[in-house]
Amino acid sequence: MNMPNMLEAKKRTKNNIPVIRNEYIIPNSMKNIGLNKTYYVLTYGCQMNEHDSETIKAILSDMGYKENNIMEKSDIIILNTCAIRENAHNKVFGMLGRLKHLKQDRPNIIIGVAGCMPQEKIVMDEILNKKKYIDIVFGTHNIHRLPLILEEYFNNKKTEIEVFSKEGEVIEGIPYNRDSKIKAWVNIMYGCDKFCTYCIVPYTRGKQRSRLKEDIIKEIKDLKDRGYKEITLLGQNVNAYGKDLYDSYNLANLLEDVSKTDIDRVRFITSHPWDFTDKMIDVIKTSENIMPYVHLPIQSGSNKILKLMGRRYTKENYLELFNKLKSKIDNVSITTDIIVGFPGETEEDFLETVEIVDKCKFDGAFTFIYSPREGTPASKMEDNISTKEKRERLQRLNKMVNKYSLENNKKYINKKAKVLVEGFSKKEGMLMGYTDTMKLINFKGNKDLIGKIVKVLVMDAKSFSLDGICEKI
Ligand code: 5AD
Ligand code: SF4
Repeated sequence: MNMPNMLEAKKRTKNNIPVIRNEYIIPNSMKNIGLNKTYYVLTYGCQMNEHDSETIKAILSDMGYKENNIMEKSDIIILNTCAIRENAHNKVFGMLGRLKHLKQDRPNIIIGVAGCMPQEKIVMDEILNKKKYIDIVFGTHNIHRLPLILEEYFNNKKTEIEVFSKEGEVIEGIPYNRDSKIKAWVNIMYGCDKFCTYCIVPYTRGKQRSRLKEDIIKEIKDLKDRGYKEITLLGQNVNAYGKDLYDSYNLANLLEDVSKTDIDRVRFITSHPWDFTDKMIDVIKTSENIMPYVHLPIQSGSNKILKLMGRRYTKENYLELFNKLKSKIDNVSITTDIIVGFPGETEEDFLETVEIVDKCKFDGAFTFIYSPREGTPASKMEDNISTKEKRERLQRLNKMVNKYSLENNKKYINKKAKVLVEGFSKKEGMLMGYTDTMKLINFKGNKDLIGKIVKVLVMDAKSFSLDGICEKI
């Protein structure tokens, strides 16, 4: 049994980060263990987790399991969890309640908990004390070891827990069962060293560590050869790419090299305003296949709160960068993340956030009520704002954010947008895809267009999507 340790998780050394190849192995005894059995993986949280789930699925497939669309009927159920806010926690614990009953009905199924929540000691304490029906638990550093973890479980028939709290390595050669055949996630780095005072990620995902550029480019070329049209470079803070690895090679250089693979579309998330250089802006501007879309979390518009959050920029710095992006990159769309109700946020501080939203008129924003995470510095700060007040601030903010999203979207009406067609829309008889600027669009068109980049005439706009008609019906 390996339990998480928040002090270990926090440690950062100057040690070189090893790139480990050939560590993903399936012991002989496990090679066909899943024959005639099925799996169900449920993912919570960010894109990084979605991508990790693609690995979990591939590993289970490698052991013979097949995917099942019905959770209740599958033989192994894995919850890949998120720790970022209390409500992500609650959702997982709610689902575990359901699974407890399922396990009573079908004692032979295997229930697994993976991802960020097991990296937290309080979660593991609860699992050990109260959730004895959970069979395997593994953390973010342990995914590629799933066959070995399962083997231990089968040998001992008691809960197998393997959660490493460490800086982490770069593991190459891990498989993916990608959810899409059109667009793909590509990890460029893992972990985070920014230690914003509210954030659990540096504890759950380890030290910032970049993949070698050769490995990234090879993966993208391979995806292109297999017909993929779009890739999204993934990292907690992609703008810091390379800093831990190279003297001068950085995200701007990587974007240039990725662009040269000639894959149709390149995106990258998430950016931290601190590391965004002019060179990066130039590369985005001049590379046809790098999409004009930047997700740039601001978190707050108050310098006092930004300082308490440990964000290392002021609202003036942010605005300068925002304006530069807007003026240099044609038609760029910019979205953001905002937290309300951070400890010490007064009405005046909140109004400064309102003011910056009024200035930036973001294309979209993910807004959150601050949620204290055990072990982070902010969780020890005095928080005297009532829940009611926090909810009111969130509502006021959402109203504005939606108003600006709609205003921005309306500018597309009667224009043609370039869309990568991903599949059928939730709206009956329609297709869906995203514009280069990352707007969801539902439109009428022939199903042969799926997987192609087409021009869609925008007919109508809402806050969260556009409606249109494809020329080539
Ligand atoms: N409480 C609320 N929101 C948070 N985020 C990160 N940590 C917290 C927290 N403790 C938000 C930030 C981040 C996004 C992914 O989640 O806005 O950018
Ligand atoms: Fe992703 Fe962070 Fe949630 Fe982990 S805690 S799943 S890294 S958002």
